[in-house]
Amino acid sequence: MKPDYDTFKEEIENLFRKELVIYFDTVDYANHLTDGSDELNELYYLRHRVETITRIRMTAALDALALSKMLPLDYEAARKWAKYTLQEMNHDKMFMGDLKRHGVSEDQVFGMEPLPATVEMGTFLEDKIVNWSPLAAVAYSLFVEWNSDQYSEQTVDRAEVKYSSSHVKGARAHVNFDVNEDHLEIMFGVAHSLLTSEQQMQQLLETCQVISKLFRDYFQQLHQNTVVENKRLSAA
Ligand SMILES: [Fe+2]
Repeated sequence: MKPDYDTFKEEIENLFRKELVIYFDTVDYANHLTDGSDELNELYYLRHRVETITRIRMTAALDALALSKMLPLDYEAARKWAKYTLQEMNHDKMFMGDLKRHGVSEDQVFGMEPLPATVEMGTFLEDKIVNWSPLAAVAYSLFVEWNSDQYSEQTVDRAEVKYSSSHVKGARAHVNFDVNEDHLEIMFGVAHSLLTSEQQMQQLLETCQVISKLFRDYFQQLHQNTVVENKRLSAA
């Protein structure tokens, strides 16, 4: 039997909270985007925004794959999922607008190789969607929506202090969009509807842990590729 909705939500959120502790304990620069007391590092911040667009476009394809697997299993959940993913597909435009304000062009964004952890995330999710369940794509969305709920606004505030409100227009609109559309709650609903057993619940939690680990790898690589690499170049 699968857990009831409240227990399900609690188990997922408990896991996400534990994963956050590991993130803050192990990743360099972990709190830099949200509450670092030092000045916001421009390279780190802009590269993160570029990668956000790359991830949106990458997961749009995975979300469509998940939709095709979800339709025969649970048409009502698939309907909600389709609406959600269609909205997410447009969010690259919001971040692109901000990057243009910083002088970063579309060609530059799409010409940049994704970090290895982003590529690995794509491979992992595709394999899980095909060989396990479309729940893998929902797990990714749950993870990003939950963490975005906790931290995105602080990141936007911090960038606005350093730059201006026009530099974060898209990111600010994105935060408001997620809240107004209640994306997190919709994802909890879709995931719970698809869930069929306690065993699948355990597999879902394990999938969330891998997603979380790949995000830790991503932030470590982001730090390495911007802050560390820049220091090395200026010393050389
Ligand atoms: Fe969202």
